[in-house]
Amino acid sequence: MRLPSKLEIAPGIALWPGALNAATQEELVREVFALADVSPFYRPVMPKSGKPFSVEESNFGSLGWVSTVEGYRYAKEHPLTHAPWPAIPEILLALWDAATGYRAPPECCLVNLYGEGARMGLHQDRDERALDAAVVSVSLGDDALFRIGGDTRKGATRSFPLKSGDVVTFGGPARLAFHGIDRIVYGSSRLIPQGGRLNLTLRRVTPPEA
Ligand code: SIN
Ligand code: FE2
Repeated sequence: MRLPSKLEIAPGIALWPGALNAATQEELVREVFALADVSPFYRPVMPKSGKPFSVEESNFGSLGWVSTVEGYRYAKEHPLTHAPWPAIPEILLALWDAATGYRAPPECCLVNLYGEGARMGLHQDRDERALDAAVVSVSLGDDALFRIGGDTRKGATRSFPLKSGDVVTFGGPARLAFHGIDRIVYGSSRLIPQGGRLNLTLRRVTPPEA
């Protein structure tokens, strides 16, 4: 896969606007919902409080990221069906290679489904041990306002809009940057049959030499 030129938002943070063309976006959406038949979306809850997320989630790959009252963790199985997660679609593996050049493939593709009013509070992606690999984030469907800052919750943040087909990476000095989705513009795209936004986040979890 060849990517168009990227915008350096800040050290370690890159944006490829329109990295995936319309046909590739449609193909990915089809694949995600086909895989969701075997690996259904479910609504995770926050550690301790048990408060439900506003997004629904599923995973692809050997390790899925899950959140329960006990905390965050990587799990080999879907928490409700106890089946292994399906494999990460080829298009995403090719995208990972093109965007990161990392020496090993991603182990997790977290799938976030945003319906009307869903958002994602500021957080760090820090449950991985391979912190030398960047995080790759793909947007599909409705527009969203993405926010990203530094390594502390209180630091300055900046926000920028993400559109369907955009790809963001954060790695190196920004690998542990706090980030989230302030809001989506519900109904701004017709890509997803039931409406809303899909985010696919690719991560390497374990160091390749381990
Ligand atoms: C996330 O950080 O888990 C999701 C980001 C996004 O939806 O773009
Ligand atoms: Fe995240």
